[in-house]
Amino acid sequence: MQDEASVFDSQFTDARRAAVAATLGDEFGIVLFAAGKPVGKPGGLDTCYPFIPHPEYYWLTGYRRPGGVLALVPGEGFRHFTQYPTARERLFDGSEGIPPGDDVEKLGEWIESLSSPLTVLGAGIVGVEGIEVDADRTVAARQKVNIVRRRKDASELELMRQANLATIAGYERIVALIRPGISERLLQIELEAEFFRGGADGVGYDTIIGTGPRASVLHGAPSQAVVAAGDVVLVDAGAQHKGYTTDVTRTYAASGKFSPQQQAFYDAVTAAIDTCLAGCRPGVEWHDIHRLAASTMADALRDMGILKIDSQTALETEAISLFFPHGIGHFVGLGVRDVGGHAPGRQPDQQCLGVNVRVDLPLEPGHLMTVEPGLYFVDGIIDDGENREKYRDAVDWEKLESWRGIGGVRLEDDVLVTDGEPEVITAGIPR
Ligand code: GLY
Ligand code: MN
Ligand code: MN
Repeated sequence: MQDEASVFDSQFTDARRAAVAATLGDEFGIVLFAAGKPVGKPGGLDTCYPFIPHPEYYWLTGYRRPGGVLALVPGEGFRHFTQYPTARERLFDGSEGIPPGDDVEKLGEWIESLSSPLTVLGAGIVGVEGIEVDADRTVAARQKVNIVRRRKDASELELMRQANLATIAGYERIVALIRPGISERLLQIELEAEFFRGGADGVGYDTIIGTGPRASVLHGAPSQAVVAAGDVVLVDAGAQHKGYTTDVTRTYAASGKFSPQQQAFYDAVTAAIDTCLAGCRPGVEWHDIHRLAASTMADALRDMGILKIDSQTALETEAISLFFPHGIGHFVGLGVRDVGGHAPGRQPDQQCLGVNVRVDLPLEPGHLMTVEPGLYFVDGIIDDGENREKYRDAVDWEKLESWRGIGGVRLEDDVLVTDGEPEVITAGIPR
């Protein structure tokens, strides 16, 4: 049987392994990075969801087969264990080669023979004698590995560029198709088909398409709903290539031209994304990027007469979260939520201006971020009695009704922080 080729050239996995070994030292004993096993579908008997190797394992090996474990032995180096194919697998899945390594069945025996402390990363390991997971050690080791993983190397960026080419192809296709009468479903089908034709091997996440008021559903699944004249059409989708995915949102006019109100909304979000993309530089706090988007859009909402307060007050009172109810973005790349988190010493899941911003750290070169400002009229927020009371004097609730039919506008791009100008990887996707 042939070896499964690694997705990454060994110069990259060698460098990643060296960086991980250096950051972990011998504090954690032997460290295991587990690929994980396929997850069964509820009630699905022997059927499983498509397998995704745990990113900590995949990033260090480039192997996509389940069951593998990469072991780091401090002072010695790395050793790979691989899952040998069963006769059943050969029958149903073919014989495509497996990653080189020792039989993973021997992992427990090997660990016991070393009698060293153990830390388990990746997908975790259950049911192997001699392997006990210490959750605190896992958390501490992961925090160190995360810092290394956050910086994208040239090989990862190349895969992102491949994913981006497929994403451009998909968006160009649907820009030509969007018109009154076409359904969200048909747009999804054409978008995703073009992703595949453009070299994608999947979608990085479930495609989001919302027309008219449905554009306000942040993660709305495409439906049979039909685009009406005068709608905005929000599309949030990314092509995936070998585990790497873009995460892009565009909002288009159904009839090719926005109404004056839609244009004002669109211009506000455009100003926010362009200012924020330009601001993604080393040392800048991610929460400040969120604040920049919020204040840019609060100024615009005041100009529209929807907010009756200035932007500083809209941020202080968190009134802006009525219309911008999500974080400005997140790490992206190896999965639509790539490793992010918070700087050491900070608390996870800190709120910023009334929303969860996910990431809380200063940017560094090599960080790849989504920037995704949006303005929406979400029924559940706008019609909430407590919000109406709390922000009685901050919002012109009557005027808001004449804007509400827009639904929402979001724009999203993926930007690489560099030592110089930020590089917008997804700039080629038509706005
Ligand atoms: N595609 C979901 C998001 O933008 O995070
Ligand atoms: Mn996103
Ligand atoms: Mn998105």
